[in-house]
Amino acid sequence: MRLLLIGFGTVGQGLAELLLASKNELWTRYGLDWRVTGIADMLKGSCYHPDGVDLEDALARVARGESLSTCPNGGCDWDAPTMIDRASADVLMEATYTDIATAEPATSHIRAALSRGLHVATTNKGPLALHYRELADLASRRGKQFLFEGTVMAGTPLLNLVRETLAGATVLEMKGILNGTTNYILTQMEAGMDYAAALAQAQELGFAEAVPDADVLGWDALAKVTILANVVFGADLKPSDSPCQGITEIAAEDIAAAREEGKRYKLIGHVWREGDEVKASVSPQLVDLTHPLAGVMGATNAMTIRTEALGEVTVVGPGAGRAQTGFALLNDLVHIQMRRR
Ligand code: HSE
Repeated sequence: MRLLLIGFGTVGQGLAELLLASKNELWTRYGLDWRVTGIADMLKGSCYHPDGVDLEDALARVARGESLSTCPNGGCDWDAPTMIDRASADVLMEATYTDIATAEPATSHIRAALSRGLHVATTNKGPLALHYRELADLASRRGKQFLFEGTVMAGTPLLNLVRETLAGATVLEMKGILNGTTNYILTQMEAGMDYAAALAQAQELGFAEAVPDADVLGWDALAKVTILANVVFGADLKPSDSPCQGITEIAAEDIAAAREEGKRYKLIGHVWREGDEVKASVSPQLVDLTHPLAGVMGATNAMTIRTEALGEVTVVGPGAGRAQTGFALLNDLVHIQMRRR
């Protein structure tokens, strides 16, 4: 499989490291033989070679702060659209930065790749939150796969779990902690740290979005509940259709008072059915300490899925991080391969 890596930041590099580390296993277990034919990154430059670029060298170059355009074997000046248009490739791995307001440039990348007949795997929340139906229809018309496991809870199984493993269980409601930054801040505030210091730590640890308003005001979680509403519940919601409140109004005293009552504040993303309608919301909620979501601390994410067949099933795991989100793309790639076979 010839791969294009568009976006070579934390997630793209995380994927590259995993691809190199699992090369033999991917071949022996899944018959998946890959080469990366092109990499394009707005800040880190581009390289392209139809026989495959040297991925190890690309990683080392970027770690040294050098541009990919200086790669001896394929350094070039193609921007992402040119790469998607001209490269010899089978799969676009899209990991450019998320812009929840415009979903660009990622949506254009995905549209162009599907139109050209490439499979697409992405971790980018913008295109899924704003254009899921259009992109899924385009993929289906072109007979190509369009996978996006990493958009919600990174590599922790959720979308595939619900769509495949829980097939037939009838999902009634989903309720969970979908943003690591805010859960980290709430955890640290409970331990006595102030809000600004906790946010600064989350930024240092690399969970926070480039503009942390997207985390603390709830927009990141809103994008994720919108994805769940549309993908799992078959709705056609836009983020702006649902109420959204972040954690900025929660003071240290509120957290202490909740604790006295045997409760804890969590920023909860919620999707449920009301008659024929699918509803979604993001808001801080007091969760009883006996509920599985209450014990989820730090940057960890969790989702309680209420099903007709099983009652409540809760999944807990990382929702961000270099290897954890890179893994989601690797997992999508393995699924593309398994379905192709
Ligand atoms: N900023 C997000 C978070 C990253 O804190 O969860 C993963 O989407």
